[in-house]
Amino acid sequence: MKNVIAIDGPSGAGKSTIAKLLAKRLNYLHLDTGAMYRAVTLAAIKNNIDFNQKNKLVELAKSIDITFDENGEIFLNGKNVTGDIRTAEVNNHVSEVASIKGVREVLVEKQQQLAQSNMVVMDGRDITTVVLPEAEHKFFLTASLAERAKRRYQEIKAKDKEADFEKIKNSIARRDKLDSERKHSPLKKAEDAVIIDTTDLSIDQVLDKMITIIEGDSR
Ligand code: DC
Repeated sequence: MKNVIAIDGPSGAGKSTIAKLLAKRLNYLHLDTGAMYRAVTLAAIKNNIDFNQKNKLVELAKSIDITFDENGEIFLNGKNVTGDIRTAEVNNHVSEVASIKGVREVLVEKQQQLAQSNMVVMDGRDITTVVLPEAEHKFFLTASLAERAKRRYQEIKAKDKEADFEKIKNSIARRDKLDSERKHSPLKKAEDAVIIDTTDLSIDQVLDKMITIIEGDSR
């Protein structure tokens, strides 16, 4: 698939930040698929749906409208929810929602349609393996758990909010476990994805590495 870049990796590896900048540089659309799972989770909270009721969650995923604008902002039934999907409550339930097969089927179909009609940088957990295995370029971004927790901690502190490093680290470790051990489309590296360990790299260094690879591949 030409003009399609797929990026996977664990929470906090820098995928979304990098994907956004890469999309800007290439003039592609950025699609953060984690945001889509978060939007379904937010809709469930708003509709008081019990997280054990899988069928209801699948029906909900089918019935809601999720769209992105050209800046990568996400809209749920027309309302901008870019900020609302990042709360602790959504964090706590999103892995559960993302583990439901029917929910994944609905969102994967949407993601594949979006990649058919746009030049995209798409990031998530199963993009290189399930959603877009034929993407022109595939990357797996990772970083140590401590570094990922440090980044999240600094991100929260920068907003002048209270943050507890150990709690953040445990929460990321919990999500790593749920995302990699779940039955349907677990997080794993595609055999042909280029792995980039971002632990000791700046954002610019990661971007430069990726651009070099993309330009090299296209020659
Ligand atoms: O990247 P994130 O933290 O916004 O992702 C939120 C959750 O959604 C996380 O638990 C993993 C899950 N997810 C997924 O299962 N498949 C994707 N393609 C993207 C995210």
